[in-house]
Amino acid sequence: MLATLGAVVLSDRAVAQGSKPDSLRTRPPDSMAGMPGMSESGMAMVGGSGALRMPPMPAYMQGPMLRGMEKVPPNVTAFLPGEGVDPMTLPVAIARRVITLADGDTFDLRATLVRRTLGGHTFVMYAYNGQYPGPLLRVEQNATVMVRFENQLDMPSSVHWHGVRLDTGSDGVPGMTQEAVPAGGTFLYRVHFPDAGIYWYHPHVREDIQQNLGLFGNILVASPDPAYYSPVTREEVLLLDDVLIDRAGLFPFGGEAPDFTIMGRFGNVLLVNGEPEYHLTVPRGAVVRFFLTDASNSRTYNLSFGGAPLKLVASDASRFEREEMVRSVVLAPAERYVVEALFDSSGTYALTNQVQAINHVTGEFYPEVDTLGRITVSATRAAPDYGGAFRTLRRNAAISAEIERYRPYFDRPVDHELDLTVNIQGLPIPLVTFMTTDTMYFPPVEWNDGMPDMNWVATGKETRWIMRDPATGKENMDIAWRFKRHDVVKLRLFNDPQAMHPMSHPIHFHGQRFLVLDRDGVPNENLAWKDTVLLPVGSTVDILLDASNPGTWMAHCHISEHLESGMHMTFVVDSASAGP
Ligand code: C2O
Ligand code: CU
Repeated sequence: MLATLGAVVLSDRAVAQGSKPDSLRTRPPDSMAGMPGMSESGMAMVGGSGALRMPPMPAYMQGPMLRGMEKVPPNVTAFLPGEGVDPMTLPVAIARRVITLADGDTFDLRATLVRRTLGGHTFVMYAYNGQYPGPLLRVEQNATVMVRFENQLDMPSSVHWHGVRLDTGSDGVPGMTQEAVPAGGTFLYRVHFPDAGIYWYHPHVREDIQQNLGLFGNILVASPDPAYYSPVTREEVLLLDDVLIDRAGLFPFGGEAPDFTIMGRFGNVLLVNGEPEYHLTVPRGAVVRFFLTDASNSRTYNLSFGGAPLKLVASDASRFEREEMVRSVVLAPAERYVVEALFDSSGTYALTNQVQAINHVTGEFYPEVDTLGRITVSATRAAPDYGGAFRTLRRNAAISAEIERYRPYFDRPVDHELDLTVNIQGLPIPLVTFMTTDTMYFPPVEWNDGMPDMNWVATGKETRWIMRDPATGKENMDIAWRFKRHDVVKLRLFNDPQAMHPMSHPIHFHGQRFLVLDRDGVPNENLAWKDTVLLPVGSTVDILLDASNPGTWMAHCHISEHLESGMHMTFVVDSASAGP
């Protein structure tokens, strides 16, 4: 079955056949010695941990696409956090804590430098309240909390409350809703949670650096309805992330501008809640509800739980109209999905990311399976038994009824269009020639970095990712759509496959929610409120934006390097209401 949303699902074709599990698994740095490409390029050996260096090629590519790229450094200076700071003087980061906040509470959130050890190697990273990921905030729907943010980083920052339809002044976008909080500064956020579900927070300054270094956390907003979700044995909140490291440490970031701006920065170590090996033990027959968030800079995941039956329950900002069984769940940067899994037999289930990697030159796919963690199922029987509730596919009448009010707008003419494309200028000529050759193959979704030798050279100085309004020809921040409060706006997004380097883009609208009406003309039969939608290369997606939250807002691609290379625009929702 091909699902209606981007939610599910790869077609059967895309699910790796006869794959060798973990054969291409990226390894933590202690086992990187044998990593193909590491010593061949020689680059990992140059300089100290702060040297710009080319990441290794994927093993299946048998070498670089273009010889000599490792000798063409990106046109930026290298940035790593805490230059000159002895990591041993920094506090060791601790695992995430759960913080329950009541309406009216005030919470202190501090961004600092921390020391982290991954695979036996020690790095300086960032953290909120010294935790990886940041604290998991639990609040009740309709609560308002004050968050006193303190920036103790070595650069300006801010906090954006992703997907939360709060007051515009607390949206955390420097230059639009506030000034960036300087190093040493503070800012008071008033965060109101009108919608139940799973949300997250992260900086809105140099996200390619700050988010990648660990600045992200979840917010679990509970509905007052005790039957909002089905009963389960337990709930787990999983933040997915990846970091790019080798024996010399973290691969440096671009100082003046982001690096890795073509594909975004793909990590070679995949982390669940900040750890390379997620582990959970449950009794036999347990039903676990997983709240999933993709906090990676660029990586889209295709997750499954070792063959455990999987039920799709909710996405970014609401439940689905009806629950459905899925084989896997596809999660693009910033997207959230709520799934439930039934672990029916004792033993081990692997949480895997199963994708099709690509050779850009030949257009050949390679099955790639990464094991992110394991769920151990004990012999003891889970009590109570929630198997019955799990097998019941619920229809959520409340959400359908709410969506029903928007149905009269589904067939309205398109109000605005956006074309997604890119402009690349000033890269070395052999590279440009290579990139424009006909043999270059672009998959609909980039599951991995299949061209690190080209990607590492590209910075925000040469790459300009573009959202273009074809009606006016305006691009990025020159676009300033204006809506009245409660306008229901139909938007058509198109990911231009003719772009010099087309790539899938997860597009996010701040402060509002939307429905994904159809993809490439195929209507979506199972709706949920979303704030981020993935556009595969060449696809057209119609969304219906519920412009009900007044203020000045941003819309952008959530690949951090694309956002930081221009791919963002503004829209204004006036306080004056549209109609009665
Ligand atoms: Cu997570 Cu501007 O967004
Ligand atoms: Cu993008």
